[in-house]
Amino acid sequence: MSLVPRPREVIATGGVVPYDPDGLELTSDPALGPEAYRAEVGPRGIALASGGPAGEFYGRATLRALGDVPIGTLADGPRFAWRGVLLDPARHFLPKDFVLRMIDLLAEHRLNVLQLHLTDDQGWRLPVRSHPRLTEVGGEHYTHDDLREIVAYAAERFVTVVPEINVPGHVQAALAAYPELGNDPGAGVQVWQGWGVSPHTLNLEESTIDFFVDVLDEVVDLFPSPYVHLGGDECLTDEWAATPRALERIAELGLSGPEAARGWITGRLVAHLEQRGRRAVFWYERADGPAGAVAMTWLDEESGALAAHAGHDVVLTPHLRTYLDYPTGYEDGPFAPDRFLALRDVYGFDPQPPTDAAGRVLGVQAQLWGEYLPTPAHVERQAFPRLSAFAEVAWGTAGDYDGFLARLPSHLARLGLAT
Ligand code: ACM
Repeated sequence: MSLVPRPREVIATGGVVPYDPDGLELTSDPALGPEAYRAEVGPRGIALASGGPAGEFYGRATLRALGDVPIGTLADGPRFAWRGVLLDPARHFLPKDFVLRMIDLLAEHRLNVLQLHLTDDQGWRLPVRSHPRLTEVGGEHYTHDDLREIVAYAAERFVTVVPEINVPGHVQAALAAYPELGNDPGAGVQVWQGWGVSPHTLNLEESTIDFFVDVLDEVVDLFPSPYVHLGGDECLTDEWAATPRALERIAELGLSGPEAARGWITGRLVAHLEQRGRRAVFWYERADGPAGAVAMTWLDEESGALAAHAGHDVVLTPHLRTYLDYPTGYEDGPFAPDRFLALRDVYGFDPQPPTDAAGRVLGVQAQLWGEYLPTPAHVERQAFPRLSAFAEVAWGTAGDYDGFLARLPSHLARLGLAT
């Protein structure tokens, strides 16, 4: 068993047979989960039973990776249903062909969600017909055809593309295009050329909700994903606290103060997505997340349990385990010297759903934020081999780190990745 990905259970009875993709005997077994499969491997061939098309796909991917398949029984299926990766074309644009390449690599690693961070302070990458200045001002962007191609290419590989439209902070590119969405329309806000947390937020007008309802209506038409990510993170409230009109709206709406305005905006948009049959996802930072939305817990490993106990379904994304844009050590040229993420620490991530709310943990996701990754080559270099380690965590086969290191060189070579 020299390669990744590998099956969770192998009962080997001795000997191997070569994998022949055309020689499989295929059956379906509804008792298996939709992504699970079982391979009975005999000297004369392989019988592959799967719980659905995704199970067959993962069975084939695993047998292909093994090459020489041990005679016996392979029983396999993922630990988590949500096995995601975030790409950030908002900070530095990522061409469509690179996104397609990453989808291939996700699928080879049996990862099944690609979150596309399409909007931020530094860019707006999604054309919106009703508000064309978003991309006219917001910089290089995809076309609708590009995005449809990405979605279809991903679907063929059992990857769901989850779009992210970040509100009510991280909106500086939108404010540059439509100043009337901001708290001070005369301020001349520009698309941000720097990194960090912008002070600018959306204002609290009904017309601003209407604007983002238009945006989300186009988003759900383009992306069939059951989930739409609304951001919600790193939203400073100082602008609302300092703006008389925002304070007037806070009073009118009966909100307790500027802190509550954040939840008001996201709550309105969560409700709109619900009407359109979609679930919202947001970055969880505190206990007042919008009800009904899925929480991505990025701050630490403990907040997964907090969000689950607060009634959210959860995707665990603790930054010190899953932010693959962080350098692995000083030799990478650290941009934030207090934050590193070594290969060993990705592999050692042992996501522990709270025992009294285990069913609320949908899965895990790795992030490739783009601030310090100016080209696709940088993204790929940061992604691997740590994404291979993360994929074993997500599937549930991580354990023996030395064994993983021994399997890694041939795995990377097979996928044409730098070792
Ligand atoms: C985040 O890193 N602001 C989700």
